[in-house]
Amino acid sequence: MGGEPLKPVVAIIGTGLMGSGVARRLSSQGYEVILWNRTRERAEALSRSIGAKVASTPHEAVEPAEVAIAFLSDDDALIQVASALRRADGLVFVNASTTTPKANLHVASYLDRLGVCFLEGPVVGGPDAASRGELVSIISGKEACFRRAFSVVKAYSRKVMYLGGEIGKAAALKLAFNSVLISTQVLLAEAMRLADFYGVDHESFKSLLEETVFREVSRKYYDRLLSREWPVGFKLRMAAKDLEYARRAAFEAGYSPATISAAGTVYSMASALLGDEDYSRVYQFLKRLEKGGQEG
Ligand SMILES: NC(=O)c1ccc[n+]([C@@H]2O[C@H](COP(=O)([O-])OP(=O)(O)OC[C@H]3O[C@@H](n4cnc5c(N)ncnc54)[C@H](OP(=O)(O)O)[C@@H]3O)[C@@H](O)[C@H]2O)c1
Repeated sequence: MGGEPLKPVVAIIGTGLMGSGVARRLSSQGYEVILWNRTRERAEALSRSIGAKVASTPHEAVEPAEVAIAFLSDDDALIQVASALRRADGLVFVNASTTTPKANLHVASYLDRLGVCFLEGPVVGGPDAASRGELVSIISGKEACFRRAFSVVKAYSRKVMYLGGEIGKAAALKLAFNSVLISTQVLLAEAMRLADFYGVDHESFKSLLEETVFREVSRKYYDRLLSREWPVGFKLRMAAKDLEYARRAAFEAGYSPATISAAGTVYSMASALLGDEDYSRVYQFLKRLEKGGQEG
């Protein structure tokens, strides 16, 4: 008799930093959530705090669900999870991971044969924004599927951008955005080192940035770059992966972006040394590099 429509059951595939944030948000909004994670104990720890069910396989998680949201590390993880699915007619599978247009196209056509509708849904914003429902979601894929998943995506997003039916566009836009975001950290960290070498104190550099269009960048990132204790929100190895994917996607389109590639090289080295630390540790990494890798 009237009232609110029933909320769809949602499977969260991958309960790392981002998947956990979105699971918390959906659960707080009254969604029934089923969790699956490669390392089961992590999903179990989350389930104890939000009261969700934990599935043993990706297929078991999506079977009762109408919408699945995947937050997986990379292309390989996405392909492995998709390969573990069986027929699931009517399921909408939103890939919120940052993956390449090529992998998304591959997985979309594979899932189509299983009756599953694939949407690209990469996000801008970190784990805190996810748990507050303040991500920006970028969606590509069939409009009918977008409509079916919209209420779920909206529940964790302050803005939802729909780019149309073509798979690959949302992934490309997300890689373009992250190229700006992550390369900015390298650029600022290197500029900070330049200032350091000439004895310019950080307050002077920050006050100069304050007077310019770079004010917001400085306010958001300067102290995070300086810090050795910033809680991990976005891992160095994810940043390295994203720049490598941006370079690869550009290369496949016949274009070679020199600055993105250079920033990617710095992040790959930082990731090899400090992979699971926050991506802002790139400034500390540059200092270590100057000392031949020693802490100091
Ligand atoms: N953190 C951010 O601020 C942020 C923002 C926007 C987008 N993203 C993107 O969101 C995705 C997840 O990022 P995150 O920060 O949540 O990373 P994370 O904490 O490292 O989580 C990665 C997840 O992927 C799973 N995984 C890795 N390899 C797998 C495989 N071969 N098969 C199945 N599962 C596998 C991990 O499972 P285990 O627990 O078993 O290792 C874990 O659940 C990435 O694509 C990232 O680029 C992150």
